Amino acid sequence: VSSADPAQPKHIPVLPVEVLAALSPQPGQVAIDCTAGLGGHAEAIARAVGPTGTVLLCDLDAGNLARAADRLRSIPAAGAGGGGGGGGEGGGGGPPKVLTHHGSFAEAPRELLAAGLRADLVLADLGFASPQVEDAQRGFSFSRDGPLDMRLDPTRGSTAADLVATLPERELADLIYRFGEERESRAIARRIVQTRASTPITRTGQLAELIRSVVRRTPGGIDPATRTFQALRIAVNDELGHLDALLDWIDRGARPQTRDSWLAPGARVAIIAFHSLEDRPVKQAFGRLVERGLAEPVIDGMVGPTDAERQANPRAGSAKLRAVRIVGTPGSGRASPPASGSA
Ligand SMILES: C[S@@+](CC[C@H](N)C(=O)[O-])C[C@H]1O[C@@H](n2cnc3c(N)ncnc32)[C@H](O)[C@@H]1O
Repeated sequence: VSSADPAQPKHIPVLPVEVLAALSPQPGQVAIDCTAGLGGHAEAIARAVGPTGTVLLCDLDAGNLARAADRLRSIPAAGAGGGGGGGGEGGGGGPPKVLTHHGSFAEAPRELLAAGLRADLVLADLGFASPQVEDAQRGFSFSRDGPLDMRLDPTRGSTAADLVATLPERELADLIYRFGEERESRAIARRIVQTRASTPITRTGQLAELIRSVVRRTPGGIDPATRTFQALRIAVNDELGHLDALLDWIDRGARPQTRDSWLAPGARVAIIAFHSLEDRPVKQAFGRLVERGLAEPVIDGMVGPTDAERQANPRAGSAKLRAVRIVGTPGSGRASPPASGSA
């Protein structure tokens, strides 16, 4: 896959300036991009850490991972032209060492430890990339008919059609309520169960129409299928389970030196969430680290998009970036100088 190919799928990275300010990547550092996607953020980080640095890319979607890795490996060496990416000098141009992990970001810390490395920078830009939703065959979209799939990693696990076909009505309703915050969850679950008794629900268009027949669209409101589709996507990919596992790893990595110390002293961790179900656990986990003196905030609270970014990239509308710097604890042997200021 060539990053110069005009037919390449596009994804505009959200909060690009804010992410770089929060992570402050430096030449020679080791970075993990937990959610490589199309490699937009990763390229900027890679340019900044430069040829003496290392970037571990991680994604559940093998296609995205390959594109991101190719993009990073194509960063031209100094004097070879190129430019862009906005990541700074990075010790003379050229790609960093690029490692890849096809799988959940919850496995990334182990991958890094197995490679004998510790991370200076960690980024997670949660959720899905634009091309995944735009490809009807992936089954994420309620406005493009396709198979009801929704797996970020289409090579393993149950599809949304499997869940819709097999979950008991009560569990379906709970799932739609919990992950979609959908007030009509019971009515939707009831209609799904009634329908599937005679007709299998296998297409996104079919499910979207079924939901629209239960929930009326309010003038100027979102498509009635939005919340149920979000709920199924979160459940199919166990998105909150993976996030909890990553937050747990960050907590372990911030404690005094253990065999799980995958975060280097002074490591910066930044996470972008797109809805409250994701943002709440991030806020709480970072808050607990700060309270225990294991981290200090790099951003006061959270930062969202500017009006200009919101207009240029509607996907950025709900983005919330939080970031902390791991400081270590006295006597841990990992203490690092305090930050000179917030980014
Ligand atoms: C918002 S996109 C990232 C975009 C990327 N920052 C860029 O600039 O192109 C999120 C990506 O994370 C991946 N993803 C979501 N959950 C994941 C998980 N638990 N582990 C690994 N990758 C995940 C998705 O497949 C998708 O490619």
